[in-house]
Parts: sequence; structure tokens; C-alpha cells
Amino acid sequence: MKAGGPRHTGALRSGVERAPAITREGDLVAVCRALLGGRSAVQRELVDDCAAAIRSGGDPLGDALCAIRSPAARRPLGATYTPWPIVEAMIRWATQRVDPVRVIDPGCGSGRFLLAAGRAFPRAELVGVEIDPLAAALARANLAAAGLADRARVVERDYRELALVPAGGASLFAGNPPYVRHHAIAPRWKAWLRERAAARGLAASQLAGLHVHFLLATAELARPGDAGIFITAAEWLDVGYGRLARALLSGPLGLVRLDLLDPVLRAFPDAQATAVICAFEVGGEQPAARLRRVRSLARLDPLAGGRPVARARLASEPRWSALAAPPRKAGDGIELGELCRVHRGQVTGANQVWIASEETPPLPPALLIPAVTRARELFAAGIELRPGAPLRRVIDLPGELDGLAASERAAVERFLAWARRRGADRPYVARHRSPWWAVRLLPPAPILVTYMARRPPAFVRNPAGARHLNIAHGLYPRQPMTPDALDALAVALRAAAGSATGRTYAGGLLKLEPREIERLRVRVSG
Ligand SMILES: C[S@@+](CC[C@H](N)C(=O)[O-])C[C@H]1O[C@@H](n2cnc3c(N)ncnc32)[C@H](O)[C@@H]1O
Repeated sequence: MKAGGPRHTGALRSGVERAPAITREGDLVAVCRALLGGRSAVQRELVDDCAAAIRSGGDPLGDALCAIRSPAARRPLGATYTPWPIVEAMIRWATQRVDPVRVIDPGCGSGRFLLAAGRAFPRAELVGVEIDPLAAALARANLAAAGLADRARVVERDYRELALVPAGGASLFAGNPPYVRHHAIAPRWKAWLRERAAARGLAASQLAGLHVHFLLATAELARPGDAGIFITAAEWLDVGYGRLARALLSGPLGLVRLDLLDPVLRAFPDAQATAVICAFEVGGEQPAARLRRVRSLARLDPLAGGRPVARARLASEPRWSALAAPPRKAGDGIELGELCRVHRGQVTGANQVWIASEETPPLPPALLIPAVTRARELFAAGIELRPGAPLRRVIDLPGELDGLAASERAAVERFLAWARRRGADRPYVARHRSPWWAVRLLPPAPILVTYMARRPPAFVRNPAGARHLNIAHGLYPRQPMTPDALDALAVALRAAAGSATGRTYAGGLLKLEPREIERLRVRVSG
């Protein structure tokens, strides 16, 4: 999380002993040394009070560090310590999902997650990774005072360089990866992100913040059966440079839940970011993750509930925060986007050339594809386009003409010369596809929908297998659906069509983008 604003890290929990304030970094170092059993000139009473406060569940050392170092001084390392109620809610979630033999806290700071995990998992090895030597000393002192030192170690290193030996059981990754913006990330680490992501077939943005690097490092270290729970600044949910984080969580890391903390909560008293908690189970087969918006800190614990969102949907959705909207009342149905992806139809660039007419030079019939080219064809079709419906043909030539028989090739060459004379190779669309003549119609969509009219959209089943141009959108099921299920979905969509919200133009013309169609709520059974 990023540092900024006032300089306190949250109130003491009830039952936690109050330790006297440490106001100088030198004293903090001395207290740590004493808690670790070393010689130190600091007053014994101060050390004993700190130890008592730590044993009763507080973190006087971390509080002192956050008070001594201003937010501006902590910002380069993204050092904002997590309030206890959040740490505890996150570790409590973990206790219900995994029995780790090892807990790893990337960027452990003063070690709050390790302290909580040490109490929750009495046999687990505790591994903190921390780049700041003073914070690492705090974590070691905390762990020692809490009686956890014999199964804990704090590795002073960049988390991206961590190597782990197999633990003989599940590892839990828990923590608050630092929020450091890309401007402060060294070029070699940006290259690291790009190369490691590319090795997984993923793209990485150079604008990604350090928490995205930590997610990738975690994906590199984690093994099937491991679990994790992180709290981070939330902007990666919706921005382009968060794509890698979304791809890792919806893919190999195996997101199981996401709790988006309402901005007004100011979950981090000394940070200015909206926070999100994401929990994952590596290699899990859950078809959906639960997403929830948390509007009050009193509702944070337990991390439970939320609306299920299919993993496939998460993988394709560029903005996740809207998916965390509160669940509707039972009976409100689900969003179409849970079931289907919606794609606008193909753009030809020159319909007067690519839609066959009497003027079109003869072409092999296999290259003339029945397609919906006018919205009125869908309105006229009623509830379904039957095979043999009167549709115009779109010329869909292969990109590679060598595979055509000689006579077909000759016909295509004559057609292309004719098309060139009509300027079909010059529009923007033609210039930006390769080769310019390959229109590439989309596969037949089992349900088609009009998206621009002075009436609600028409949802039409497509047993004819017609293709569609960009006067319609096609609905493509995310999972295979039977014809009966598709019929039922089309019925439900017609019932819901009146509630579609898109952009209204002069004269009541309603235009619906694919994403707006995906947000339609439908009531379907089964
Ligand atoms: C947001 S703080 C979280 C501290 C602690 N886990 C907590 O939640 O209270 C992030 C921590 O990561 C550390 N850090 C920053 N960059 C790091 C890196 N590249 N490798 C390891 N630790 C790093 C910072 O020093 C800081 O202590």
C-alpha cells in the first residue's frame, strides 16, 4: 500500500498492552537488539514493556517505525503496515482453507502477518522476506518476543530474488505487497517482469507497480496446493497495466475470492489508496471466484459471501471492480456475461463490394457466405433465423489463395481486380488487415442481437448458422449449451430486453455496446 497522509497506523486492539512510545530510530534499533538477546544500552523497563505489548498481540515496534519515519520517507519502499483487524481477517480466512507447513510474508515489514500466522498455525515455519534492514530487524525482534523465533526466519532480500526449497506440504503466502509506482522501479526489474511474464505467454506493462511484480514472483514460487491472501492497492483491477495481475489471478494463481474495500473506509489510515484483498488457491479447480464489495470494516471479517463470477469471465473482463458490485436480491437473475461473451459482428470496410450483388463477378459458391447484413433481417426473423432464411451473401475469401483450384483461383483474381477498381483495398479496415481481401467473418453465433434501433434489442436464435456483420452482435456461450438451453436463454433475454441500458441518441435511438448487452440480467433456471 502506498504511504501518505497522517502518521499513525491504527488503534490498539482491546487487551493489548500499551507500550511507551519510542521516538528515535536509534532507540528502536536498541530495543530490537535487546529483544533479540543482545547487549543494549536501552532501559530494561522499555524493553520489558515492549515485549509485554508484543506478547499481548500488539506491534509497538512497527507503530514506532511508522511514527518516526514520515509517510514520504516510507514511500520509496511502499512501507505501510496493515491494521490488525485486516491482518486477522485475512489469516482467519486462511485457517479455513489451508493447513500450511510454511507461511511466507513477502515484504514482511514488522512481521504482523507472521505474528498472526504463527499463532494461527502452531506448527508452520514462518518466512518473512524484507528488503529494509531496519524493518527486518523489527520483524525478528517481534517474532522473538512472541516466542516464535525457533520456527521463523526473516530473509533480508528482494522478494523477486527469493528461492524456496520444497516444504513438504502447502505454503501460504500472506501479506501486503508494497505499493511502489513504476517510476521508482529499476529498468532491470521491468525487464525481469517482461521476460518472466513472456515465459508464461503473458504480456507485462512497463507501467505496472511493484505489487504486480510481487504477484508474478509469487506465481513463480507457488506450487499446486499452496494458497495465498494479499491486500493491495486496488487500481490494478481496472487499468491496462493491471492486466498481468488479473491474468495471474484468474489463471495460475487461482483466485477464489476478492474483497474490494470501499474507498470511504480508508482501510489504511496512513495511505490514500483503495484496497482489495484477494485470496487464491494455486491449482484449484474452482469454476468461479466470489467477489464482494465491503462497505464497512465491521463487515470485513469473515471474508465470505459475494457474488460468484466465472473464472472464464474474469479472464476476459478488462475491469474487475464492477464485478464486485453487491449481489442482487434472489430472483434478479444473473448477468448474461456470466453465460456468454458478446462480440460485435465483422466490419467489411466496403459493404458495396463485400456483400454480393448482381454486379459481383461470379465466384465459387463456397466463398459466398449467408450473413445477417441488415438489422431488419433480424427483426423480420422473429424468434429464429431458420435454415434457408433469405439472407445476402458476404464474400469471405481465404487469406491464402494457393489452396484454391485453378478455375476458382481465376474467378477470385477477376473478382479482386474488380474490387480494386472499386477501391476496396483502400479503406482503413482493408489497409489494416492482411491480406486486404480477407474479411474473416466470425463463426456463427447461436444467438444474434440487434444493437442499434428505436426499439428494444431483438434476440434471435440462429439455427441457420448465419454469420453476422457489424449491424448485430453475436452471443457466444462460454460453456457448451444445448439447443433447448439456448432457446430458454433467448426467451429470458427477450423478457429482459426492455431493461437494457445503453447510449440513447436523438430520436430515441438506443445503441448497446457488447459489454452493455453482457450486463443484461436474465432469469434462467439450471
Ligand atoms: C506495505 S508494507 C507491508 C508490511 C507488512 N507486511 C504489513 O502488512 O504490515 C511492504 C513492505 O515491503 C517491503 N519491500 C519493499 N520492496 C521490497 C522488495 N523488493 N522485496 C522485499 N520487500 C520489499 C517494504 O520495506 C515494506 O516493509
